[in-house]
This record gives sequence, structure tokens and C-alpha cells, in this order.
Amino acid sequence: MAEKVKTVRGFRDLVGEEARKYRFVVDTARKVLERYNFEEVILPTVEYAKLFARSIGEATDVVEKEMFVFTDKGGREVALRPEGTAGAVRAFIENKLYADGTYKKLFYEGPMFRHERPQRGRYREFHQIGAEVFGTANPVADAELVGLADEILKTLGVEARLEINSLGCKKCRPRYREALLRYLREHEEELCEDCRRRLERNPLRVLDCKVEGCRRVAQEAPKITDYLCEECKTHHEKVKEYLSALGVEFTENPYLVRGLDYYTKTVFEFVSPELGKTVLAGGRYDYLVEELGGPPTPALGFAAGVERLMLLLKELPPRPPLVVVIPFGGEEVKREALKVARLLRKEGVRTELSYREGKIKKQFEFADKIGADFALVVGEDELKSGLYTLKDLRRREQERLPFEEVVRRLKEASS
Ligand code: HAM
Repeated sequence: MAEKVKTVRGFRDLVGEEARKYRFVVDTARKVLERYNFEEVILPTVEYAKLFARSIGEATDVVEKEMFVFTDKGGREVALRPEGTAGAVRAFIENKLYADGTYKKLFYEGPMFRHERPQRGRYREFHQIGAEVFGTANPVADAELVGLADEILKTLGVEARLEINSLGCKKCRPRYREALLRYLREHEEELCEDCRRRLERNPLRVLDCKVEGCRRVAQEAPKITDYLCEECKTHHEKVKEYLSALGVEFTENPYLVRGLDYYTKTVFEFVSPELGKTVLAGGRYDYLVEELGGPPTPALGFAAGVERLMLLLKELPPRPPLVVVIPFGGEEVKREALKVARLLRKEGVRTELSYREGKIKKQFEFADKIGADFALVVGEDELKSGLYTLKDLRRREQERLPFEEVVRRLKEASS
């Protein structure tokens, strides 16, 4: 036998039930997003690498270590997108979605790529469903966005703890940065190599580092919430107040900084205790549109990890019942069976037409094997009498019925 080619490390097939889970998670989230009047955007998976360096930040793990970057045949340095926000902002600017002066609520879904160490719930190709709101600084939007995320998780039956924080703005963050840097310098020798190297450029990253030593140091670090300016403080208070009004439970985590650099003010994460991982996360990024060449536009958003939500799904809704149409006889019967199967599908019945030939017993075995609920025999007798044999494979009962009655029963079972 020829050598088999396998999937690339960290990349996966979603087969059978996995694919159905994927679709269910995405469709459920999509329905909620559409009810909130978000509009879909379909964005490229490849962007110029500098888009991510300038948005996510040079001194982040995602850009420094995890990006799939390559030079295309035209000599351009491009990257497989590691997340969706940068591309959404680029699209917002490039398509002048700010032109009508209102705010824009966009969502997207699709594969993202990060060269991380694969484990359960962490892959090199994974999928996000994300939402971005452009053009509002109103804290009502922050609360509503978090509420929307909460609603998606609840609709999916996924339990997760919500943590929120504020990262301040250009006015107050520098003061905090100084205080944090002072503190971290005192503990420099306890930090990991990456954090020491990135200390001056990006001290906030230490708070997000998973290395034990860094985590210990982070526990005693100054808290950003003690350094917020009046505007950020009020914004943060309002967000919390509105969340409480919505009945969304949260805990405050003054050390929550997220792994990407573009955030300002509100940041949040929904963490699954069962998975020990974040399933959905986001926040505000009020400067990013301007920093990427657009007009000053406050914005905010989140993304959910589809695979992580799939792991937490308790149950998939059952598929509608399946009927197998079994042709039993010559050419005329086959022609009739083709027509019958098409008609049933038109009526909304999930229908499989058997391509098997041979004994009726074998046909029923086939129907059982593929998990059919009903078998409908189309044979010469049926053609003559107009009465069709409908077998309920679960109850092991069969009846001969006029075709209209067959359709009525199958439609009823499918609804
Ligand atoms: P993020 O926290 O980097 O944020 O990713 C969002 C979610 O994607 C994570 O909470 C996790 O569920 C999932 N995820 C991330 N990496 C992996 C992986 N390697 N394998 C499986 N799932 C993963 C962002 O990407 C921001 N763009 C979110 C955002 C939108 N902020 C504002 N707007």
C-alpha cells in the first residue's frame, strides 16, 4: 500500500458528529448575532503580516512566535490570520464603512491560525466566531456586547465564569505602566526569559504570562484599576452597572490584560472551569482604527473559540428522522423510486435513496446500518396497487399506505 499522507500537526478534520457540532455552534451564535442586528462580513484568511504586527503588537506571543508568516510568489510578506479583529478593522477602513456616520456592527466566522503547542482545546488551525462594533464610545455598547456573548453561551448551554477589567486609555495607562515597570524591575530575576526580554517594551505582558514564576510576581503587582483616570473609571463603573441591570454575573479581575496589545478600557473573558480555558474573550480597542489609518473610531468586540465551545456542548439537537427509499424491482421501479425520493425531499423529509441492489433483507440491513428511522419500499406491487410499504424501523411495524398518507406521516414525523 502507498504511504499515507496525514494531517499537519495541530490541524484537524472535523468528521461526522464533530462537523455537526461545529455547524450547530456557529449557527446558534449566528442566530443570536443576527437578532442583535449584526451583519456578516467574510474576510480573507491571508493578510499582510504587518497588519498583525501593527495591531496585535510586535511584543506579543501571537506575533512574535505563533504566526504562520511566509513570502508569497510576488515577494510579499503575508500571514495566515491569527485572529479576526485586525482584518475586520482593515476591512472597515478599506470599505469606508464609516462613511454614513452611524456605527457598524459586524460579525465573522472562520479559521484562524496560531503556531501554538497543540493540546485539547488548542489547535494550530481553529475557528472563531467574532463580533465587532465600530463607532461608539458608549458604555451601554460594552455591556450589551458582553450580554450578547453571555446569551450565546447560555443558548449553547455552556457554563463559563465572566471576568472583567479595564485597561485604561492613553491618559492613564502610561502612569500604570510606570508603576508596573518599577515593581517588575524589582522582581526581574523571578521572571521568565521572554518577560525579561520584553519588560521595557511591554510590561503588561507579564500579567498574562503563564509561567509559574511570572504568575507569582503578577499576584502582588500594582492594579490598573487603582490608576484609571476619571473618564475610564466612570466608564468602567457604568459598564458594571449596566451588566448588573442585565443580570449578567461577573467578577472583577484587576490583572486581566489579554494577550493582544490593542485593548483600551473594558476587557473581558469567559472562562470555562470544566475546560480550564477561555472560551470567549474581547474588549474595547478605541485607537486601533486610527492607528491603522482610518478616522478616529472607538470600537469593541469579542471572539469565541468554536472548538472550545464544541468540547463543552452537552448535547446536539437530534437530526430529523431519516427515511430510506428502497427500490425493489426493475427499471420502472428505479425511475419511480428516484421520483419518490425527490418528492419526499421537496416535502422536507430527510431521504436517502438506496443504491443497493439485491434481496429486500439486505436492503433493510442497509437501512438499519445507516441509522434510518423508516424504510419505504417502492416495488412492482406498489406501482400496481398504489399502496406503498412503509416500515417504521424503530417500532418494527409496517403498513401499506397510499402515497399521500406516506407523505403525510413522514412530514409529521419530520416536523
Ligand atoms: P483571543 O483571546 O486571542 O482574542 O481569542 C479568542 C478565543 O479564540 C479564545 O478565547 C479561545 O476560545 C479561542 N482560541 C484562541 N487560540 C486558540 C487555539 N490555538 N485553539 C483553539 N481556540 C483558540 C482574539 O482573537 C480577539 N480578536 C478577540 C476580539 C475581538 N477582541 C476584540 N474583538
